Amino acid sequence: MHAPVPDRPAGEPARVEVALGERSYPVLIGPGVRHRLPAEVARIGAQRVVVVSARPPEWTPDPGVPHRVVPARDGEHDKNLTTVEQLCRAFAEFGLTRTDAVVSCGGGTTTDVVGLAAGLYHRGVPVIHLPTSLLAQVDASVGGKTAVNLPEGKNLVGVYWQPRAVLCDTEHLRTLPQREWRNGYGEIARAHFIGAGDLYDRPVAEQIAASVALKARVVAADERDSGLRHILNYGHTLGHALERATDFGLRHGEAVGVGTVFAGRLAGVLGRIPADRVAEHHDVVAGYGLDTTLPGGVDHDELIRLMRRDKKATSGLSFVLDGPGGVELVTRVPEVAVRTALSGM
Ligand SMILES: NC(=O)c1ccc[n+]([C@@H]2O[C@H](COP(=O)([O-])OP(=O)(O)OC[C@H]3O[C@@H](n4cnc5c(N)ncnc54)[C@H](O)[C@@H]3O)[C@@H](O)[C@H]2O)c1
Ligand SMILES: [Zn+2]
Repeated sequence: MHAPVPDRPAGEPARVEVALGERSYPVLIGPGVRHRLPAEVARIGAQRVVVVSARPPEWTPDPGVPHRVVPARDGEHDKNLTTVEQLCRAFAEFGLTRTDAVVSCGGGTTTDVVGLAAGLYHRGVPVIHLPTSLLAQVDASVGGKTAVNLPEGKNLVGVYWQPRAVLCDTEHLRTLPQREWRNGYGEIARAHFIGAGDLYDRPVAEQIAASVALKARVVAADERDSGLRHILNYGHTLGHALERATDFGLRHGEAVGVGTVFAGRLAGVLGRIPADRVAEHHDVVAGYGLDTTLPGGVDHDELIRLMRRDKKATSGLSFVLDGPGGVELVTRVPEVAVRTALSGM
């Protein structure tokens, strides 16, 4: 199966539309697409802009209207309600109104916290994201979920607030550390099994465009996560458990990579897919340079306990799994099957 990478003239960025009626928006992907910022600001009719940026100021082009740049920091530590309040106060101090816009520039933590601030300020002001990590380009900046953390847990407070445009500038990835590439590739690897197709020998802009096109299709069909959107959690049940079991020693995408291999093994144990499809899970994840085995020292009992607490696990152990009818949520998976799939990983 091949990915629906949009046709385009040479030199033009890839363009994916998130089709949500009058809230539809474009995601542009390619080298230099940040320079489309003034055109996007003009298109949405914003008169003034606050740019919230976790990167050096020269990473965001002049939006072409009166603006202020507010510095931010990436990271889970600052992804909280205190930052939301600080941002909203900076918007108020600048006199930002609903005819203006907010621009975010940074990793997924920054697009999440700025997206939430934009969704709350004046009950919602337009926001344009310039995601700078691979994970933020393929996943966090697209789809309209925003959230911040509480001491009690991650992403517990948020709103759905769709951006008006997303500019995924692949030049922004040049400084990305190796580990953050792996973080993003974990999500791209899992996308292989939910409809993005074979991407591992393709240029990065195409990998991003295909992953975004997949997410855009799913979000357009199920914006608020009441059905189909759960397929995006492929590889995530074990992935989330591994993040917790290692006290976030694994990056999210690294854990999702291992979780994707596991999802293949579990589907195999349950007789849902043949051996070659199980092997494909291993090979795709390995092909992206990701680990395919459980990190040393994690205990299977602990992983099972954590997976039983997963927010999708309302009916026993639940996993998004491949099968004869395609990928679907499978509930009440017998624990013995989970143990068999984990053993030898
Ligand atoms: N809203 C959603 O739908 C959604 C989806 C997936 C993930 N997320 C959220 O996204 C967050 C993870 O995003 P992330 O992995 O980008 O984390 P992050 O924002 O912490 O960035 C990861 C690291 O990369 C660095 N970085 C980012 N861009 C860089 C660049 N161009 N050059 C050098 N370093 C750079 C950051 O400073 C940070 O150290 C999580 O909080 C997660 O909950 C949200
Ligand atoms: Zn994920």
